[in-house]
Amino acid sequence: MSNWLVHGGAVLEGTVSVQGSKNAALPILAATLLVEEPVTLLNCPAIRDAENMLGILKSLGCSVKREADAVTVDSSTASGFVLPTALSGELRSSIFLLGSVLARFHEADAPYPGGCEIGNRPIDLHLWGLKRLNAQIEERGGRICCKGGNLSGAVVDLEYPSVGATENIMLAACRAAGETTICNAACEPEIVDLQQFLCACGFRVHGAGTPTVVIEGVERGHGTVFRVMPDRIVTGTYLAGAAVTGGDVTVTGTQPELIETLLGKLSECGCAVTRNADSVRVRAPKRLRGVGFTGTRPYPGFPTDLQPQLFAALSTAEGTSVIAENVFESRFRHAQELRKMGAKNRILDRTAIITGVKKLHGAFVTAHDLRGGAALVLAGLAAEGDTTIQHTERIERGYERMDSVIGALGGTVIRKENGIDEEEKTR
Ligand code: EPZ
Repeated sequence: MSNWLVHGGAVLEGTVSVQGSKNAALPILAATLLVEEPVTLLNCPAIRDAENMLGILKSLGCSVKREADAVTVDSSTASGFVLPTALSGELRSSIFLLGSVLARFHEADAPYPGGCEIGNRPIDLHLWGLKRLNAQIEERGGRICCKGGNLSGAVVDLEYPSVGATENIMLAACRAAGETTICNAACEPEIVDLQQFLCACGFRVHGAGTPTVVIEGVERGHGTVFRVMPDRIVTGTYLAGAAVTGGDVTVTGTQPELIETLLGKLSECGCAVTRNADSVRVRAPKRLRGVGFTGTRPYPGFPTDLQPQLFAALSTAEGTSVIAENVFESRFRHAQELRKMGAKNRILDRTAIITGVKKLHGAFVTAHDLRGGAALVLAGLAAEGDTTIQHTERIERGYERMDSVIGALGGTVIRKENGIDEEEKTR
């Protein structure tokens, strides 16, 4: 377990470039199994989830190489279809391998996926979609056993625009016989990036980014070199950092149009937002204004993955703000941790009522999940005194060297492994 010590009283200022997208890289890594030639991904984030996904690919027989942010996966040597329990249990995205392993080996055997505890997170839509493509699926002994010798195209009308189910069905359909149409598909930008990767490998996919995605199955794909899109959630996190600390932050190498909902909220809070083609700047006032109501929704609605960061910002804003979490059942665990720091909020089922206080104070808090943990880092930077955050390995699942990025913006985050300063260890 790792802890971080966050020095309070910081005002984040400066310019940072953003890492590659976790939620694009993970399904793309799963898709490399569809291609029996080397694939190189540029801008592949060096985060725990990506390393775990690479570990699973290795266990299936792929050769994997990383040089800085370039990762090469050669799955021509892969032969396994049984996913390792421990590694797969570390991340939600291991479930994407069901679609690609099935398409490649006509058989797949996987444990239930892990990932952030932010709700029930069933996989019924994934399994239902794969069955529509003629996969036989049995759930026994805590594992999902699939046979798919004759995957064939179909119309898959999703009950809910699930990101993961849309991506899993896209992967399985790429090498199925005939055409698949996914209706009520999720429209997240990461799905568009997955489509662009699949097309770069010679697969036939179109419509991503709209509720209707069409995949025409082909027998095989080919290798490629592909650049993963920038991470819009990480972009939003550092911009929220400017808002929480009354600072001035510019994020470069990003796509501002993909987080317009957050930028709109920060403007409502009184921040000056400057958008350019591939960078965005947020200058915050001394104290934010509260914003009436925010409800999380599938894209292009307000992203649930930026809800905790906005929650932290509104905790010291003037007035009362309300947030409804409409995507996940229990994604307010950061609220109790912020209350340990002096925040005032009430959680009524899936609605939070936040009454802004002038100042937070340092405390000993827990990162219960990835984005909630990131929000606590931002709150700790703005607070009076120091904050210790435990279980920060959960933050490292999605943020590349957050301590160094915060350091570049004038804040201080000290990593402690088993209570010992990382720096001290290296001395
Ligand atoms: C993806 O998760 C992201 N993860 C999540 O980001 C993100 O919060 C989520 O989409 C929504 O935007 C990755 O891309 C790796 P869903 P996913 O399937 O695929 C219900 C982060 O912080 N549902 O769209 O799991 C489900 O329970 C993470 O980076 C079913 O009921 O999201 C949830 O309430 C956290 N049955 C809702 O749909 C299913 O079979 C949305 O889930 C599938 C989902």
